[in-house]
Amino acid sequence: MENPVENAKRLAAFKAVDNHVVNGVIGIGSGSTVVYAVERLAQRVREEGLEVICVPSSFQAKQLIIQHGLKLGDLEMHPELKVTIDGADESDLQLTLIKGGGGCLTQEKILASCAEEFIVIADYRKASENLGEQWSKGIPVEVIPSAYRAVYQKIEKTLGGKSELRMSGSSKAGPVVTDNGNFILDWNFQTVMNWKDVETSLNMIPGVVENGLFVGMARKAYFGMSDGSVMERT
Ligand code: 5RP
Repeated sequence: MENPVENAKRLAAFKAVDNHVVNGVIGIGSGSTVVYAVERLAQRVREEGLEVICVPSSFQAKQLIIQHGLKLGDLEMHPELKVTIDGADESDLQLTLIKGGGGCLTQEKILASCAEEFIVIADYRKASENLGEQWSKGIPVEVIPSAYRAVYQKIEKTLGGKSELRMSGSSKAGPVVTDNGNFILDWNFQTVMNWKDVETSLNMIPGVVENGLFVGMARKAYFGMSDGSVMERT
């Protein structure tokens, strides 16, 4: 594979699937890195007889599972997962994550919370020391559509920074609508903060469904590097 970023995503995804997936129920995150994890899962099912049921975090993940001929499950049938594997937009040294670049943060956080192990896969561009060094688009916040203005005013009043309603496509004709029928605000914070407090404060605002800060959830992260190695953080 020529492209160094795609190669890095693939390396991280393959290593995580090889190290953490055994027979059982697996949570499948969303995004472009997860594509490689599902590819590797399907390979292991074919070649090793691995037996997994995959619970998707989004419409995209569901399509991937179906396209690869993997067994599809849901949280109603399987509320406890062995492992969830997912990408991230940024991870700091403590494995505090920003997620939701693809707008799937709520279901992703639910799957992460239901798993014995939550494992992150990403390319080298996502690893930072402090949040905000790599990902410049802010923290995604999923909101009930009727509340989006009220929520962004409250975020700015209580936490500072600036929020923007995420619009769809290059024409920005309308807001992005999540798989849950909600809107996304991207909140650009100004300084490094106590992320656990911020995560809680955001979720206390009426109208907020969930936010893309994942604090203390990830057990381990695999970052594919440009030199073909994989950096592991715990
Ligand atoms: C979607 C997510 C993704 O996991 C995140 O955006 C990373 O995506 P990619 O693997 O394409 O870099 O949180 O809501």
